[in-house]
Amino acid sequence: MRDRALSDPSLPLTVLAIESSCDETAASVVRVEPDGGHVLSDVIWSQIAEHAPYGGVVPEIASRAHLRAVVPVVREAVETAGGWSVVDALAVTSGPGLVGALLVGVQAAKAIAYARKLPLVGVNHLAGHMLAPFLVREQAIGARPEFPFVALLASGGHTALYRCDSPTAIRELGATRDDAAGEAFDKVAKLVGLGYPGGPVIDRLAAKGNADAVKFTQPMRGRDNLEFSFSGLKTAVNVHVARNGIPTEGRGLEDLAASVQKTIVDNLVRKLLAAARREGVAHVVISGGVAANRGLRAAALEGCRAMGVTLHVPPARSCTDNAAMIAYAGAVALRAGVRDGMGLNARATWPVAEWAAAAQAS
Ligand code: KG4
Ligand code: ZN
Repeated sequence: MRDRALSDPSLPLTVLAIESSCDETAASVVRVEPDGGHVLSDVIWSQIAEHAPYGGVVPEIASRAHLRAVVPVVREAVETAGGWSVVDALAVTSGPGLVGALLVGVQAAKAIAYARKLPLVGVNHLAGHMLAPFLVREQAIGARPEFPFVALLASGGHTALYRCDSPTAIRELGATRDDAAGEAFDKVAKLVGLGYPGGPVIDRLAAKGNADAVKFTQPMRGRDNLEFSFSGLKTAVNVHVARNGIPTEGRGLEDLAASVQKTIVDNLVRKLLAAARREGVAHVVISGGVAANRGLRAAALEGCRAMGVTLHVPPARSCTDNAAMIAYAGAVALRAGVRDGMGLNARATWPVAEWAAAAQAS
């Protein structure tokens, strides 16, 4: 049955996945069926509190925290899903990310695969984000996307647009030249003393502020330019606070947060719609941690409605780092014939298009 499920997409395939690329240790069991990935368990242990005093992720602290968390997190995910007997295969994020952090998940997955004689596959973290809308989730925007679609992936480490013709046919259309969108949220928040991670705090403050209070220049304005640049915004905020002082609380801070968020969101939505128009697709996807942003979700929904394209965004929990998305992407790779052995290693960099091409060639 297990061997047939690995090759026949009409049969359910249940995958246990581990994710440890950055500052969350996560494990999840997903049963992949023809209508999408059904999440049987979704355990996420965040290390944010351990990194917060440093204003960002400290790789050494991340590795140690993953080491402490990985066994209990996997155990909880498996128990919640109904035990080891339901698991057909293992998937693990093997890149891109912090190598020391990734290695913890990779070594755990290899040990489990060896001991339990389960097939194993290393998954690209960005492919996980991109395929997250294929998880069957309440509170998602839009149902399962249809190919071809254009995907905007906006997280703490990456911001790029892709054209996806199938789960394993992915082409990059444009990416950031410097900071990622999530990094812009985080750096601005740090600058005005809002702590780490900045995205959720700015999101919360922005909901109460006036987005037109401070005018920041839109980066990479060219109509057909599908590249991003967010480092200038950090400088602009720096100049603004040098002139006007750092608003400590209340209206001033809310207005600044709303203005920063609007600058980032307008830019992301404009480029996403430009890419959809250029590629002639009827479906667009937004994923990655920044896709949890309420301002981005609302603006994208409005823009997509006006243009007549259908928007798909996972619920916030499946936008930020999680292992359910890795399980789904793992199932795609396993069914494409990809298998990794005990030689599987962590990769700091790994273009998602390369992952897709390897899966297609298998
Ligand atoms: O995908 P993710 O969890 O990890 C990476 O792969 O990077 O993304 C984390 C990023 C952080 O920069 C965080 O500030 C941002 O996503 N983020 C948000 C929100 N929630 C998380 N940015 C804006 N609004 C949010 N609500
Ligand atoms: Zn991520």
